[in-house]
Amino acid sequence: MGKCYPAVSEEYKKAVDKAKKKLRGFIAEKNCAPLMLRLAWHSAGTYDVKTKTGGPFGTMKHVAELDHGANNGLDIAVRLLEPIKEQFPILSYADFYQLAGVVAVEVTGGPEVPFHPGRQDKPEPPPEGRLPDATKGSDHLRDVFVKQMGLSDKDIVALSGAHTLGRCHKERSGFEGPWTANPLIFDNSYFKELLSGEKEGLLQLPSDKALLADPSFRPLVEKYAAMHSLKIMQKPI
Ligand code: HEM
Repeated sequence: MGKCYPAVSEEYKKAVDKAKKKLRGFIAEKNCAPLMLRLAWHSAGTYDVKTKTGGPFGTMKHVAELDHGANNGLDIAVRLLEPIKEQFPILSYADFYQLAGVVAVEVTGGPEVPFHPGRQDKPEPPPEGRLPDATKGSDHLRDVFVKQMGLSDKDIVALSGAHTLGRCHKERSGFEGPWTANPLIFDNSYFKELLSGEKEGLLQLPSDKALLADPSFRPLVEKYAAMHSLKIMQKPI
């Protein structure tokens, strides 16, 4: 999506660079990369390709969207980011929240995600119910990612690898615990853990397990688990 936004001014580009630096320091210091990545994803994941509604357009700052069940806990991310956002009034919330997601991947050792600014804030949040439900299986994942968002099976598996970061919180989602032993390091350990089976202290959601059971998803999980160097993930040939 990123490449079709309107061009931004030089002043805007400078503000993006400055904001990125501030976000780097802040997110590293607060160890809040996982929450920031979840904020960026829950902003983007409401996109509906048929109606062209929803998506990463800054609406998460509205209480109405933060109140969606799937977004429990993201009020914390919005609140943490607000003092930095205030320093960059020129930037849209839409760009700012996605930038926080890009920085979250970078500061935890993941690939540098190219950032395309130019998203404009929309006035209204999307309807509730567009984000995936962790208690469901592969049909549901395809309904959300493929039919609604316009993505592919490969995207479902690759994007699920974001659970290499962070954890579930009982009071937010009803689930508890991290997926990997190092929830602040971005690597392919989510896929390795998934294949090695359930372990004491680590969690697998029903939607994670669906990736193992599905004949199209599983070979992709195996492929990503076998990539022993992050470099391979960053620079596919
Ligand atoms: C495949 C469907 C997905 C489901 C069903 C799902 C579900 C969940 C659930 C239940 C949580 C726990 C929230 C909490 O209790 O704090 C969570 C956390 C998280 N999710 Fe997902 N997720 C999915 C895909 C994704 C994607 C595509 C990304 C990013 C690209 C992502 C990034 C994260 C991150 C980083 C956390 C950790 C947040 C924290 O530590 O505070 N998830 N997810």
